[in-house]
Parts: sequence; structure tokens; C-alpha cells
Amino acid sequence: MFSLDDKVAVITGAAGGIGFATATRFAAAGARVVLADMADAQAKATEIGGIFVRTDVSVEAEVEALMQRAVDEHGRLDIAVNNAGMMIVGNRIMDEESDAYRKQFEVNVMGVIYGIRQAAKRMGTGGAIVNTASLAFQRSGSGISGYVISKAPIVNLTRCAAIELAPQGIRVNAICPSTTDTAMGWVNNYARISSPLGRVARPEEMAAVIHFLASDDASWVNGEAIVADGAIMCGPTPALQAAANAAE
Ligand SMILES: NC(=O)c1ccc[n+]([C@@H]2O[C@H](COP(=O)([O-])OP(=O)(O)OC[C@H]3O[C@@H](n4cnc5c(N)ncnc54)[C@H](O)[C@@H]3O)[C@@H](O)[C@H]2O)c1
Repeated sequence: MFSLDDKVAVITGAAGGIGFATATRFAAAGARVVLADMADAQAKATEIGGIFVRTDVSVEAEVEALMQRAVDEHGRLDIAVNNAGMMIVGNRIMDEESDAYRKQFEVNVMGVIYGIRQAAKRMGTGGAIVNTASLAFQRSGSGISGYVISKAPIVNLTRCAAIELAPQGIRVNAICPSTTDTAMGWVNNYARISSPLGRVARPEEMAAVIHFLASDDASWVNGEAIVADGAIMCGPTPALQAAANAAE
């Protein structure tokens, strides 16, 4: 069950956080893993028996070279996890000078489009693609509009891709994580008490969902965006209400 034996998987944003946890889990499940990131992940790739390809996902030629490298190395490509992402905090709508919208769009949206396209071209007649969106597709915030509007489209993009690639036997799904304990995650007391479980997520918990979506066990799950938020969106927690009331 959930075996990835003989599967070849590319994971972007794999130098740390959710991406590395996913690559580690995939390798343990039998996959041959190709780790991609702008940052160096050579040692980490070696540690889990994979290979590392330095890649900027916002440059299509680099994503193309990445996916081709997986095929050259292992003869096939079965799984692509388009997980690389960036967040610029403090970018406000009224800030006319900011380049933050364009930058985040190029990495978080175009990076996923390039990943889907270049992976699907090489998947033959079957495969699984998982895109990392964010709970930010449902929730907004001050100073992160560039991030929010670069993550929300991933959900609809995933649905479009699921329809377009279904004739090729490729499933496309997304995960929408809440705050996760990674370099990017905003791990603070607000995040903890906003969660009914009283903590933020661990990257391994996101990797487990991605693993399911990437595996053949999810063969009837397609065009789906799995919200992995520990019930945060269910409503305010007693701890959050108490903190707000205490501040009155
Ligand atoms: N941590 C959270 O709270 C959280 C919540 C929701 C969604 N996410 C999403 O999860 C994904 C993984 O993030 P994480 O939390 O593991 O953080 P992270 O910072 O540990 O990982 C992100 C990785 O993406 C890489 N990256 C950034 N820009 C890149 C580019 N242009 N090309 C290639 N690699 C690039 C970074 O070097 C980094 O290794 C991201 O898409 C992020 O938006 C994270």
C-alpha cells in the first residue's frame, strides 16, 4: 500500500521543509527521487539516495532540463511535485514601487505551470502531479497579498490541468497546507492558538498527504485540492477567543 516502487519522482523546493520531507518519504516508499531547488541540496539528496539538480523553477528552460535529467538518469518520469515557492512579507497593495507581485507570480504560478507542462511531456501514458498551494487560497492577510494571489490560482490551475491531462492518464492534485514548521512558515503563538490542535503542522505531515496523492492508491482522486489545516478553517478556537477577550 502506498508503494512508490519503481516510480521516478521529481520534487521541487526540496532543499528543506515540505519538499525535503516529501523526497525523504518518497525514497522510503521505494521511489527514485530527483531533488530540485535553487538552494544547494546535494548533500541532502545523497543522504536519501537521490540526485540533486539545481533549478530555478521560474525559468522554463531550467525546469525542462530538470525533468529531462530525471528521464535521462532513470529512463522514465512518474511523479512531479511542484512544491517550490516563495513568500514576500510586507508587500502592500498601495506600495507602487514593489516588484513583489511579479516575483511571486513568476515563482509560485509560472513555476507550477512550467512544472506541470515539462513533467507531463515526459510522463508518457500515466503519472501523478501534486502542486503545493496554500491555505492562503481561502484566507487573506495584510502585507501578503502578493503571496495570497500567487497561491490561490494553483487550486484552479490544478483543476484545469486535471481535465486537460486526464486523456494522458495523468492525475493532477494540490495540497493546501496551513502554517508548517519550515523556514517559510510563520511559527508563532498566534498560529499555534489558531489551531484546534494547538500547534502548527510538521513538514512530514504535509509529505504524508502528498505521498497519498502521488501514489496509485489515489487513482480516483483527481483535480482535488486537499486542505491540510488541522481544522483551522472550522472556526476560532477557545484559546484564540480567550486571548482576544483578555486583550479587551
Ligand atoms: N510553511 C508554511 O507555513 C506553508 C504554508 C502553506 C504553503 N506552503 C508552501 O509550501 C511550499 C514549500 O515551502 P516550505 O514551507 O517547505 O518552505 P521552505 O522555505 O523550507 O521551502 C521552499 C523551498 O523552495 C525553494 N525555492 C524558492 N524559490 C525557488 C525557485 N525560484 N526555484 C527553485 N526553488 C525555489 C527554496 O529554496 C526552498 O528550499 C511552498 O510552495 C510554500 O508556499 C508553506
